[in-house]
Amino acid sequence: MLLGVNIDHIATLRNARGGIDPNPIIAAEICEQHGATSITTHLREDRRHIKDDDVYTLSKTLTTKLNLEMAMADDIQKIALEIKPYSICLVPEKRQEITTEGGLDVAGQLEKVTEFISPLLNSGIIVSLFIDPTKEQVEASAKTGAQFIEMHTGTYSEKFGTQEEEKEFQNLKNAALLAQSLGLKVNAGHGLNYENVHRMHEIPNLHELNIGHSIISRAVFYGLPEAVQKMSNLIK
Ligand code: PXP
Repeated sequence: MLLGVNIDHIATLRNARGGIDPNPIIAAEICEQHGATSITTHLREDRRHIKDDDVYTLSKTLTTKLNLEMAMADDIQKIALEIKPYSICLVPEKRQEITTEGGLDVAGQLEKVTEFISPLLNSGIIVSLFIDPTKEQVEASAKTGAQFIEMHTGTYSEKFGTQEEEKEFQNLKNAALLAQSLGLKVNAGHGLNYENVHRMHEIPNLHELNIGHSIISRAVFYGLPEAVQKMSNLIK
């Protein structure tokens, strides 16, 4: 499995003082040097962490791949078409949320999603849809033309170590198998940490995990190189 590191929290910390430190571009470089196979960042409508300049710079400086998380917003689509990241991951976005809550409702807006991703696909950008691990959302995703889904692992992570863990894990496994049978490649992410990530190995052919919060939290105490390397070793 590959490791995409989400660097949004670095930008949140930088923005706390409005200056340039810590620099997310340097953070991305360190992540790449210590096992990240891609860098993920979410350009939100309110630009609360990563800003346009960061994304433009990352698109030039990364030596691995840029995975741009974005909502279905025309202005962000325009930026994506200009910088051409390796991939985009389409997420739902609510202004008041602390982090991405729930997956994108592809089934409920199949036509809209299909139309929105069409120019991105036509320009050679790989498209992934961040969805809850349900049959309905997987089947709808397979109809859009997107090459990937990213399964929302938030509920699994929340229930890890409880009686409900197994049920949530099986939901992920079943969704991944269904997606693969429909020709989709499968990523996963949200809430994964050093304790719960090992079960991702039980899901066949998972391509990449996108992890942010736990890695940056560990980095506060042990440094970013150690935090990325440790996660990279766990998922290899
Ligand atoms: N994948 C997606 C689509 C996300 O929105 C996020 C959170 O920004 C993540 C993965 C990473 O989640 P976490 O920060 O909990 O590791």
